[in-house]
Amino acid sequence: MFIRSIHLENFRNYGRLDLDVGPSVNIFYGDNAQGKTNLVEGIYVASSVTSHRTSKDSDLIRFGSNEYKVSLDLTDDDGSNCNLMASYYTEKSSLSKGNRPGRLLIRDNAPVDKVSEYIGVCNIVIFAPEDLNIVKNAPAFRRKFLNTLISKISPSYFNLLSNYSRLLVQKNALLKSIKPNYKAENVDPQLDFWDFSLAELSAEIILKRYRFAKLISDTAAKHHGSISGGKENLSIEYSTIFGVVGALETFLTKNSKYDEYMGKGLSESDYGRIKGILSDLVLAKLKSVRNYDIDKHVSSTGIHRDDIIIKLDGLAMKNFSSQGQQRTAALALKLSELEIIKMFVSSTPILILDDVFSELDKTRRLSLVSAMKGAQIFITCTDKNMIGEEIDVMQGANKAEFYRVNGGEITKEA
Ligand SMILES: Nc1ncnc2c1ncn2[C@@H]1O[C@H](COP(=O)(O)OP(=O)(O)OP(=O)(O)O)[C@@H](O)[C@H]1O
Ligand SMILES: [Mg+2]
Repeated sequence: MFIRSIHLENFRNYGRLDLDVGPSVNIFYGDNAQGKTNLVEGIYVASSVTSHRTSKDSDLIRFGSNEYKVSLDLTDDDGSNCNLMASYYTEKSSLSKGNRPGRLLIRDNAPVDKVSEYIGVCNIVIFAPEDLNIVKNAPAFRRKFLNTLISKISPSYFNLLSNYSRLLVQKNALLKSIKPNYKAENVDPQLDFWDFSLAELSAEIILKRYRFAKLISDTAAKHHGSISGGKENLSIEYSTIFGVVGALETFLTKNSKYDEYMGKGLSESDYGRIKGILSDLVLAKLKSVRNYDIDKHVSSTGIHRDDIIIKLDGLAMKNFSSQGQQRTAALALKLSELEIIKMFVSSTPILILDDVFSELDKTRRLSLVSAMKGAQIFITCTDKNMIGEEIDVMQGANKAEFYRVNGGEITKEA
């Protein structure tokens, strides 16, 4: 798939931008703080709804405005055209109904009600300085990495996550409202209901996360090996509620179902059996911490606390690795994201490289670009002369296009 044109309205420092782009390599250069990252963020938001660098949608609205609109005209690998438009508005916007902030998603001129039906249309993989957070920062960054990847491939996973978050918010509201002199018979039936529903959803989420964590581990290890010359071993382990991974692995080994689970997926009856085992385990765990949770007014246990542990030669990278090792691992993880999307999605993903060349040495830069041949690519940098050999590797026979970014305006070089 490739983008033919980009339209931004009141997005970050852009008042209005209508820009035609080339199907191959597009290079955006300019001084700091001119709008290079804002442009690629706009492209990313138009395809994926949320930003890669903030979870606050209102930050994306141009200062002084009440709504942004970002849209893309696209052509798929089979030559068919489509259009995506995402907008977010504040309660003051004329788009707002009932004085509430909200979102509007439009695909081919028709409103789309479910985010899950929008985010799979155009797959974009973005490489940005923030990727380092996946390796060195809090578990929330790794969950976001895992959730974004699985959601791009599986709309049903995105729906499971949304349902889980909604139920968790409701359960947490109840936990917060419980007074110290509460009577168990008044709160238990409601908590039993939330816990049962959360445990059912958790089992399905765990089954997807474990499988994708394994896929990431295998593919990232391969990329890591080729970037680092095979000197160190990268591995990824899914970490969730105590005992759950053990139960899943025992089920798969005892029934010789590992290959089936990793490949075409378990049969309906096996899926039902393992889902039952996992949801029972989660439910027992949630009940065992109930008194503590009521006391502390939090949901202390659950898949909302999951993590993936990134290890180098068996040691957790977060605690033991150097900056350079973390950078290589982050790059290997993102290359694995790209490879996994290619495995599952038929149309070629679009790539964004936001300011990443300056931080990588030549070997890493060439590993990055050689994974990208044939795709449409957007690159931002401060100095266009920094990218030479990389362009030749990426573009093949196609022409690279250059654009100068200056104060929220973009001029294409003739
Ligand atoms: N919501 C917003 N409304 C208006 N301007 C914004 C908004 N959010 C950020 N900006 C402005 O956008 C500019 C930063 O743009 P951006 O991050 O795209 O820079 P950049 O060209 O990528 O720079 P660098 O080379 O430093 O990465 C800043 O001047 C910032 O004040
Ligand atoms: Mg930038």
